[in-house]
Amino acid sequence: MGMLRLDKYLADMGKGTRSEIKQGLKKGLAQVNGAVEKSPDRKIDPQKDQVIYRGEPVCYEKFVYYMLNKPAGVVSATQDRRERTVLDLLKGAQGKDLFPVGRLDKDTEGLLLITNDGELAHRLLHPNRHVDKTYLAVLAGPVTEEMIARFAEGLEIGDDKPTLPARLVVLENGPQARAEITICEGRYHQIKRMAEAVGSRVLALKRLSMGPLALDETLAAGSYRPLTAEERAALETKK
Ligand code: URA
Repeated sequence: MGMLRLDKYLADMGKGTRSEIKQGLKKGLAQVNGAVEKSPDRKIDPQKDQVIYRGEPVCYEKFVYYMLNKPAGVVSATQDRRERTVLDLLKGAQGKDLFPVGRLDKDTEGLLLITNDGELAHRLLHPNRHVDKTYLAVLAGPVTEEMIARFAEGLEIGDDKPTLPARLVVLENGPQARAEITICEGRYHQIKRMAEAVGSRVLALKRLSMGPLALDETLAAGSYRPLTAEERAALETKK
């Protein structure tokens, strides 16, 4: 990677707009290799120079990857005029042009990968890839053997084609059943529509995994963390 201007370096890492950063630099908020640097056009070598902004080291990474435990009540969009978005929950995260990989409904919780790596997102979301997504669902029960078999066959849910086979594993049966449901597509309201197609209804939905990436259950709803090196490697090997 070549040299970068200091203001671009910081803007690329999500530290503000170029003009906000210029203001910050004027106030002496940046250090390069231990010395205060006020000039936005100071050239930075991302491999060698150590940059600190507002007291925190800022490493340059082309792409960033975060796991968010999405709470209910926020939309999976980058911006929205009325609703709180998943990106509002990542204020302060490093990286610019972040976006969620795929969508969860506003009332769905759980695993959402947030990145600025378009190629990875394309790979995970491409319809021909059939990446497994597993959800914990609370269903209006009880769940019957027939429903399980119909999920396994694929269901007519009002689209051009029936869904691909899905796995429905009952954890607890009764008037409110708890089940793990695995689908390998990402159609609009897919699980809700599949439940309705077999005469049930989704009462709550939480995504537990997407391909090799599993929700870190120690992450409170609304919190996020960077992916570990192992998680990133697991996603890479899915190429
Ligand atoms: N299926 C749904 O119905 N909703 C989601 O958010 C995800 C899968």
